[in-house]
Amino acid sequence: MTAIHQRPARGLAPLLVPLAVGGLVVLALGVYGRAHTPTGFAVGVAGFSAALPMKVWLTTGAFVLAVVQVVSALSMWGRLGIAIPPAVHRWSGRLAFLLTIPVAFHCLYALGLQYDVPRVLAHSLLGCFFYGVFTAKMLALPGRGAPGWTLPVLGGLAFTLLVGLWLTSSFWFFTAVGFKV
Ligand code: HEM
Repeated sequence: MTAIHQRPARGLAPLLVPLAVGGLVVLALGVYGRAHTPTGFAVGVAGFSAALPMKVWLTTGAFVLAVVQVVSALSMWGRLGIAIPPAVHRWSGRLAFLLTIPVAFHCLYALGLQYDVPRVLAHSLLGCFFYGVFTAKMLALPGRGAPGWTLPVLGGLAFTLLVGLWLTSSFWFFTAVGFKV
């Protein structure tokens, strides 16, 4: 099983634009999260008793898909000894990202970036950095001259941020409130 991304490093220049745009995304979400007045807007979604449990379970879905993404990435890099089709990696990543969108929309639009409680401050910052790193990863995809280590590093960072988001929200909810739907 051969590793697939052994390409000579072309220096960090190809990473400058992806990292700069990723940084702007972090900044824009952070400034918006603080500058706008939280609306408290809540949507009722069929099957859930309220927006909070909906967010908690969607985030858990994104977390599980992200684990599938990491395992399939290890297989793509020849580190697993089993062949998982690359499409599993691509689609688990896309679905995981899509599941976070309605959640983060509610967080930013209805709640904003809060820092009165350390858990919530950590959560809010993790949320902003998650989208910044995800943007940088998408812009640094192979074929645009980025060094070979770019995807494992940005992919690993995006996964770590999502785990932190899940721990500071869904896991907190499950332990503080319970497995409410
Ligand atoms: C983009 C920046 C984000 C900001 C500023 C933010 C902010 C917040 C805030 C202030 C709360 C209320 C916390 C509380 O009072 O308990 C919250 C709740 C929540 N957030 Fe976010 N969030 C962000 C992104 C995300 C993302 C990307 C996810 C999921 C992938 C997420 C998942 C959740 C969940 C599940 C809750 C409900 C559980 C809880 O109340 O802690 N958030 N968020």
